Amino acid sequence: MTLLDPQAIGAPMARLDGRAKVTGAAPYAFEQRVDDPAYLHPIQSTIARGRVAAVDTDAARAIDGVLDVLTVFDAPELADTSDGELSILQDDRVHFRGQIIGGVVAETAEIARHAAGLVQVRYTEESHDVELTADHPGLYTPEQVNAGYPSDTDEGDVEAALASAEVTVDQTYSTPIEHNNPMEPHAAIAIWTADGVTMYDSTQGVHAARKALAPLFGLEPDQLRVIAPHVGGGFGSKGAPHAHDVLALLAAQRSGGRPVKLALTRQQMFALVGYRTPTIQRIRLGANQDGTLTALAHEVVEQTSAVKEYAEQTAVTSRKMYAAPNRRTAHRLAALDVPVPFWFRAPGECPGAYAAEVAMDELAAACGVDPIELRVRNDPEVDPETGNPWSGRHLVECLRLGAERFGWSSRDPVPAQRVSGDWYVGLGVASATYPAMQMPGNSARITYADEGRYLVQIGAADIGTGTWTTLTQIAADALGCDVAAVDLQIGDSALPEASVAGGSSGINSWGRAIVAAARQFRRDHGDPPAIGATTVAEAPENPESEKFTMQSFGAHFVEARVNRDTGEIRVPRMLGVFSIGRAINARTLRSQLIGGMTMGLSMALHEESVRDPRFGHVVTQDFATYHISAHADVADIDAIWLDEADEHANPMGSRGAGEIGIVGSAAAVVNAVYNATGVRVRDLPVTLDKVLPGLP
Ligand code: MOS
Repeated sequence: MTLLDPQAIGAPMARLDGRAKVTGAAPYAFEQRVDDPAYLHPIQSTIARGRVAAVDTDAARAIDGVLDVLTVFDAPELADTSDGELSILQDDRVHFRGQIIGGVVAETAEIARHAAGLVQVRYTEESHDVELTADHPGLYTPEQVNAGYPSDTDEGDVEAALASAEVTVDQTYSTPIEHNNPMEPHAAIAIWTADGVTMYDSTQGVHAARKALAPLFGLEPDQLRVIAPHVGGGFGSKGAPHAHDVLALLAAQRSGGRPVKLALTRQQMFALVGYRTPTIQRIRLGANQDGTLTALAHEVVEQTSAVKEYAEQTAVTSRKMYAAPNRRTAHRLAALDVPVPFWFRAPGECPGAYAAEVAMDELAAACGVDPIELRVRNDPEVDPETGNPWSGRHLVECLRLGAERFGWSSRDPVPAQRVSGDWYVGLGVASATYPAMQMPGNSARITYADEGRYLVQIGAADIGTGTWTTLTQIAADALGCDVAAVDLQIGDSALPEASVAGGSSGINSWGRAIVAAARQFRRDHGDPPAIGATTVAEAPENPESEKFTMQSFGAHFVEARVNRDTGEIRVPRMLGVFSIGRAINARTLRSQLIGGMTMGLSMALHEESVRDPRFGHVVTQDFATYHISAHADVADIDAIWLDEADEHANPMGSRGAGEIGIVGSAAAVVNAVYNATGVRVRDLPVTLDKVLPGLP
């Protein structure tokens, strides 16, 4: 592969959209200027399962300013009802508590919300089941898990290897429901006129959104235009449209052409936009006394919704991470009367690596081997799953460099030995890996718009990651011009097709399209090109992806302090060392990595959604009760990366970095708490009540 000559890429260029964002000039979905908008507020079910028997809308309709009330009995029909999450208001069934069963359209958002509260709904209630247990009677094996991975894998004879192993670990780890909480809530404006249908949507992919939504309304994809120039975070929850998008379009269909605006409240997001499935993970490791793995079994129980399957790929990192000759991975699902789980930053890799990397720490302790040395001893030469060579596996370098930078040698291998004032002090480590994914279906258009000005167009998304800036840098290098000569346009389905900002695949997928278009443009139009010269090109497939396993790697280092009297946990220091191919923008890259690490810290110590089994809803539906790491929780946090370029991944030499920061970071926190106190917590989050009883 011919790599780009890095001039602009790699530089810590400030965000091109930064000024517009901090001055409020960058329009987010709900802020887009439209004429004479109406406002929509959803009505949500208050039972977890059953039927809507009757809806009384009289009181709502009597309110001044109410324009329309949609119910399950009178909403427009959808052309396609095959998606159980998106197919709302088509029948009287209630599949989970919080499901959209109606909506009120009014002159203001406040009137709509007030009137929605006046709609009286009578139900025929049925018994529900919302609790995941390790031995749930309905457990089944999904055909495949998210991203198309096989559900189960078996290599060698894991039971025999476990039975004859010199050292074994057999533990169960659990993670709770976690909810995505991007700063910008999910929001949309739907405009349905005779001229066409337009949607301003807070989405991670304008083309993906219209491909999912258009068929529901009997439209061809190009009859629905989706626009999203700026998105205030998504973490996966905006990776596909959810039911509120359908509600907005249903309401707009009969608003007489008036734009319909809808912004979910923070509380509504806890029922409507996906969440990370809870997991119960049994891990069994077999090893020789020196720590060399002979067997690894990673068996996962998790949940989906009865209304639509989503199967998280929780055990997949265990197929690639270590060189155990005998391996088993398995996923079992219970379909419950709950909302549909969905992507949450590094779905699968994140919760799976948490369990696996804590188990490795337990093995290190059982063998009396240093946790870094244990990982080095089990570093596979080739991909254990396929036998393919790595495009670059530099986990050991990450571990060694991090150990040196973090002062790993000061760690006492015996837990609870280091005390500083009122605090036990400990250090923990964990590995990370994440695949370099390339999505199909990406094109870019390059036009020499004016003297010295290149217009670069692709329907990519910037969900806060820095896409506006990084794609400009890539285009400049590919065209051989200054970044100031590039005018980028993204975030509109009227632009050339682009894949979703998901799976850390954005740069890998969109960047390839831009480089292909730029190279083609230079071949077609020479130098200098004529004004108006234009070229569209598709991203080529990467033949190297068959020959090499392309994964990013990382090593997390954490210092934990645990109060001797209260069990309070503080994390004064975190360091991540990553191998992610070439950095496109050192500033936005660091921001992605420390953002992911912060979410891992948050997962380790705070995040937990609690569902009330009696009523079926999440009771922790605000930031007072759903805790996330805030500024005071995050102290000295840093991320560094190896100086490298992956010559097999793409012309930029990069592998993507949006998610690897959260993979393994929670394990490093748990392992540091263990080293500080000798207390091993296996069910997240690690709260002080779980630590306190075990303190020395
Ligand atoms: Mo990411 S959870 O694949 O948007």
